[in-house]
Amino acid sequence: MPSLSFLAKALPVFSASALATASLPDKPSDLSTPTQVRISVSGPNSISVGWNTYLQSDKPCVNYGTSATSLAQKSCSTKSDTYPSSRTWFHTVYLNNLTPATKYYYKIESTNSTIEEFLSPRVAGDKTPFAINAIIDLGVYGQDGYTIENDQSKRDLIPNIPPSLNHTTIKRLADTADDYEFIIHPGDLAYADDWVLKPKNLFDGKNAFQAILEQFYGQLAPVSSRKPYIVSPGNHEAACQEIPHTSWTCPAGQKNFTDFMTRFTGNMPSAFTSTSKADQAKVNANKAQQLAKPPFWFSFEYGMAHIVMINTETDFPSAPDGPDGSAGLNSGPFGNPEQQLAFLEADLASVDRTVTPWVIVAGHRPWYTTGDGPCKPCQAAFEPLFYKYGVDLGVFGHVHNSQRFYPVYNGTQDSAGMKNPKAPMYIVSGGTGNIEGLSAVGTKPSFTAFAYADHFSYATIRFKDTQNLQVDFYRSATGELLDSSTLYKEHADQFVRNY
Ligand SMILES: *[C@@H]1O[C@H](CO)[C@@H](O)[C@H](O)[C@H]1NC(C)=O
Ligand SMILES: *[C@@H]1O[C@H](CO)[C@@H](O)[C@H](O)[C@H]1NC(C)=O
Ligand SMILES: *[C@@H]1O[C@H](CO)[C@@H](O)[C@H](O)[C@H]1NC(C)=O
Ligand SMILES: *[C@@H]1O[C@H](CO)[C@@H](O)[C@H](O)[C@H]1NC(C)=O
Repeated sequence: MPSLSFLAKALPVFSASALATASLPDKPSDLSTPTQVRISVSGPNSISVGWNTYLQSDKPCVNYGTSATSLAQKSCSTKSDTYPSSRTWFHTVYLNNLTPATKYYYKIESTNSTIEEFLSPRVAGDKTPFAINAIIDLGVYGQDGYTIENDQSKRDLIPNIPPSLNHTTIKRLADTADDYEFIIHPGDLAYADDWVLKPKNLFDGKNAFQAILEQFYGQLAPVSSRKPYIVSPGNHEAACQEIPHTSWTCPAGQKNFTDFMTRFTGNMPSAFTSTSKADQAKVNANKAQQLAKPPFWFSFEYGMAHIVMINTETDFPSAPDGPDGSAGLNSGPFGNPEQQLAFLEADLASVDRTVTPWVIVAGHRPWYTTGDGPCKPCQAAFEPLFYKYGVDLGVFGHVHNSQRFYPVYNGTQDSAGMKNPKAPMYIVSGGTGNIEGLSAVGTKPSFTAFAYADHFSYATIRFKDTQNLQVDFYRSATGELLDSSTLYKEHADQFVRNY
């Protein structure tokens, strides 16, 4: 939770490093070289490819196909966006009509790009087991971010992972690439607004903010170029610094979620057309599609899972980062009043459990957490809908450690425990690593099942079958399994309505 006290800590070293500046990455000599490559699920049979270049492009294109030696298909777009203070342009190209669950290869058109690969999305209703990773609060690594003590006996085996990333969560995500199909990252990406914590940046804040974004998305690219990387906003995306009521001083382009919006608006899906045979599902899914506001709130379906990404920062009553919010970050709104909650209700109401038995909702700020700071306005806005429509698992971050809670509603543990509860199970997976460090576990609510803050860690969610969901927490540096639990749900009702 950065505040003025961080600034105070940095001030004594001001003069010693007055000549230091932001650590902007070197530009490639060929300015059309794609950097910061990221892919996402953008529709039922569609993948979006996003990347940045240091040059505006008239016609960004991607060649792709199911054989690395014959990239016979080609897709292009005409959009090349940027914003004030950004050094780069943002591109998105859609690869549509993909054969589901099939390995594809692609190459962004440039003299200096590499062939990457991905697995195309599973169709809704495919009951094949698969796993995803939940990483929240992951920031830049290195001179503008965090570093770790590590075991020098292990080396990088995957090409493109810079050696300096040795044993971070990103390295683990690369090493375990065969174990999961995509990544969700609901909020706090990069920590560009924490540039002020490094004295060398103090007189070059505008560039330092951009430098951190360029570095972070570059560090992530070896993973995000191959695994769909699905995001929603956190408080660190809001403004150039997290000092309340100062965002008016931020340079143009560094307030009101600008980088987040420019980077991900075209990348994220909206909400899928229902494949259910029931009319009520189709009607509600169409309504959700109209109300979705990617990348702030949206949903998608993948195999056995219906996954919703929500915005805990703005766009609901007393939202913390809203214009009058408690964080003083003066951001949003990004929709009409009521739009986000109306979206969530229509979206959850559309879920046919015979198609997608598992419903996961992911957002940034938790209302169940150890230590201080549950988000009460978030709980008031979202929890009743989670319970009413039988959300199986809530995934959150914001608190920098790993936590798991037994199914709980309105502060009371569900007496069924992990055996077919009505209430959602909740996890926090915010211990992945960032410049602010880990948060101590602190006081544990009575329904706490696991809490860990000794080292960087993250969660893997395994969709085993239509009734068993396994959540595993791993230590990032070693891959040690820290906690494993299985939630059993009968999923007997086609449409869940708990009241
Ligand atoms: C090719 O790409 C690499 C990686 O982005 C970059 O370091 C290098 O400078 C590029 N080469 C040219 C000629 O631009
Ligand atoms: C990562 O490993 C390399 C090679 O062993 C080493 O030179 C480097 O200092 C390590 N980086 C960090 C941040 O520990
Ligand atoms: C933030 O951006 C949104 C979307 O462009 C806009 O509607 C809203 O008014 C902006 N909020 C502030 C405080 O500038
Ligand atoms: C939630 O719990 C509080 C007390 O802890 C109670 O006053 C309130 O009525 C409960 N709300 C619901 C919807 O059950």
